[in-house]
Amino acid sequence: MAGMLPPHARPRSLSGMQPTSDSLHLGNYLGALVNWVELQESSEAFYFVADLHALTVPTDPEVVRRRTRVTAAQFIAGGVDPARSAVFCQSHLPQHAELGWVMNCITAFGEASRMTQFKDKVAKGQNANVGLFTYPMLMAADILMYDADRVPVGEDQRQHLEITRDLAQRFNQRFGETLRVPEPYILKETAKIMELSDPASKMSGSNSPEAGLILLSDEPARIAKKIKSAVTDAEREIRYDPEHKAGVSNLLVIESALTGVPLDSVEKSYDGLGYGALKTRVADVVVESVRPFQERMAELLGDPAELDRILAGGAERAGEVAEATVTRVFDAVGLLLPSRRGS
Ligand code: TRP
Repeated sequence: MAGMLPPHARPRSLSGMQPTSDSLHLGNYLGALVNWVELQESSEAFYFVADLHALTVPTDPEVVRRRTRVTAAQFIAGGVDPARSAVFCQSHLPQHAELGWVMNCITAFGEASRMTQFKDKVAKGQNANVGLFTYPMLMAADILMYDADRVPVGEDQRQHLEITRDLAQRFNQRFGETLRVPEPYILKETAKIMELSDPASKMSGSNSPEAGLILLSDEPARIAKKIKSAVTDAEREIRYDPEHKAGVSNLLVIESALTGVPLDSVEKSYDGLGYGALKTRVADVVVESVRPFQERMAELLGDPAELDRILAGGAERAGEVAEATVTRVFDAVGLLLPSRRGS
């Protein structure tokens, strides 16, 4: 049955984010979103809000709704262009849950039990539901659905990509060449941004204290205040040395990543200056960088109907690909195709 896979002219990229916060932070932006934006140039891109995945943690329905809109708006405000890339909500395409079910049915119980994110969450006392257990299989479905060549995700998602490859290979072995096995494509982060209040830890929406996070929605004064309070060290020299001077190095990385000026030039530009000057300039750079983002966010959130139209357009584009994949998969496993699935 080789040759069933429809070729695609341009490489495909796909990624998703869960709508689990009211604002992305600078680490999400520089670590992930800028890569998404860049991949639009060289590939056909699919970017979605993983709202089904977000249900694995019990959340107030109003909060889910609000954060889903905010997350989608942030993709766009951050530079994802809905005219070029499909921007959509996972739940708008029933094919995700459909393919997720098939993935569940070829995953061994023991295999799912070994997934480290699941084990960690359970160990931390999160009262786990079955959705959390099957999270990786839904994620595999998200990826395999679009025959994705590139899946820009962070290092923390490596195991999820591995199980996705295993499942695709297993499926193909059992049912014939049906799914494209994605190449592992872990993002080398453009910039790894650390917590302001503890520069040894990565800036994280779920783990960092508010003072350690620069939220893209923070008011300019708040951004400046957080940066001025950033933990540095007892020396005076401004030098890039992440091991011994994690706080100062983090500020240099932020300035370099946002301005595009190479790190060593940024470092040199502080010759003879002190930490006060560093913090003032970095705060200015962040505030200026975030300003257009915030303006675009305000526009998008001020016109929910337009945002919904964008999401509907994205779902329509993604839906064509998704429908073809699920039809292929359902047929391969022996499900009778209903007339709406034609073929
Ligand atoms: N698990 C991812 C995260 O928490 C989100 C996600 C869901 C995803 N489905 C995906 C990322 C498919 C990439 C591809 O970051």
